[in-house]
Amino acid sequence: MKKSLLVSMSVLSASAMTMTVMAGSAFASTKHSSSVTTINWAASPISNVGIRKALIQLFEKTHPNIQVKLTSQPTNTDTNRASLATEISGGSATPDVFMGDVVWPGQFASAGLALPLNNYFSKSYFNSFAPGLVQGATYKGKVYGAPFFMDAGFLYYRKDLLAKAHLPVPKTWEQLANDSKVLLKNHLVKYGFVWEGASYEGLTCNWMEYLTDAGGQVFNAAGKPVMNSPAAVKALTFMRSLITSGVSPKSVTTFQEPQAMNVFNAGDAAFLRNWDYAWSNSQTKGTSVVGKVGVVPMPTFAGKKGPGYGNIGGWNLYINPHSKHIQADVTFIKWMTSVQAQTVLASKYSEIPTNNQVQHDPKIKKLNPVLAIVGSEHLVPRPAQSPNYPKVSSAIYQNVNAALSGQVSVQTALNNANSQLSSASSSSSL
Ligand code: GLC
Repeated sequence: MKKSLLVSMSVLSASAMTMTVMAGSAFASTKHSSSVTTINWAASPISNVGIRKALIQLFEKTHPNIQVKLTSQPTNTDTNRASLATEISGGSATPDVFMGDVVWPGQFASAGLALPLNNYFSKSYFNSFAPGLVQGATYKGKVYGAPFFMDAGFLYYRKDLLAKAHLPVPKTWEQLANDSKVLLKNHLVKYGFVWEGASYEGLTCNWMEYLTDAGGQVFNAAGKPVMNSPAAVKALTFMRSLITSGVSPKSVTTFQEPQAMNVFNAGDAAFLRNWDYAWSNSQTKGTSVVGKVGVVPMPTFAGKKGPGYGNIGGWNLYINPHSKHIQADVTFIKWMTSVQAQTVLASKYSEIPTNNQVQHDPKIKKLNPVLAIVGSEHLVPRPAQSPNYPKVSSAIYQNVNAALSGQVSVQTALNNANSQLSSASSSSSL
């Protein structure tokens, strides 16, 4: 018998005397009795530490009439998006609610893959979020996602290693490379710096940080692609040099978040670029780096006034337009964005809360070093407004990855990216 069924049965046991008759028959369908509704929530793992199940348990405790069945989605946001888009465009009524990336509203809204939320949530509900987040989830005047948690890129470092070698915490990219070289030369660590260099969405996030810091853009104010600028050359040349100089392992060109995280947690890297949740993840019992990790805003290029730029990531909660349980979906989403759920996300999992009240609570800021520095970093979004964003992003990450792995020169990669960006942006308005 499935675990979800057992859980449902135990919750029902007090009220449903007919349970034994129903068990094994239609009992596993979405409506168990007039009083209990089961909704399906599709969500990727977020971090490795069981956030989703902990939140579901808390929700079910306070809402005994709604059961939530979790469908685990892939950690790669692109694969996750593709599987949900296929399912929902095929008319499937499940999942009812899905956790979707902040860069999805353009595509999902324009293709009818997410329900506009304005009819189900009040204006004051949307005002409870930190500024900018609802705007990011809006497409043509309607809100499609409730901001669930915010991500930003940070630099994690090994306090113990830097102290041993009397090295400063890097404020510039050049210093980070230099610190790494010293640590490697002295055989204090296996790798200098690990990050997300694989050919996927996460590389677009990393790229935005270097590019913006070098003074470049993907599109200029007129919407024209400008990714072959001198600033872009500087950014990509530096990223490639991390690999050719041995600061980052060659395999970094295949790393997504989990691989970079694992290397760092195993004690094999001095520096890690990752999202806010990497703090709690690295401090989970059993990693090799508990008590040895520090976190700072991203570095900047030498000669610039820091700090550098952290990309804005994060995830929203969306409703499948074919869901048969919209009221229950709304209740679930309201709870997941409530002060209670957001406090759990922040305090146990170092996720940046989207709820404005929680995000600015001085007690929350004191909980861990990531939340303490959230306001001190420069943030940069991805150019994600277009329904065609998946093409825009793949023009970026495929070409950046080709240069990182040495298949093409920096200049060729950027020229290719620029012409692909032109066709991606001309096939739909940006
Ligand atoms: C994180 C971010 C998300 C981003 C993804 C890339 O999950 O929250 O916005 O697209 O990483 O891998």
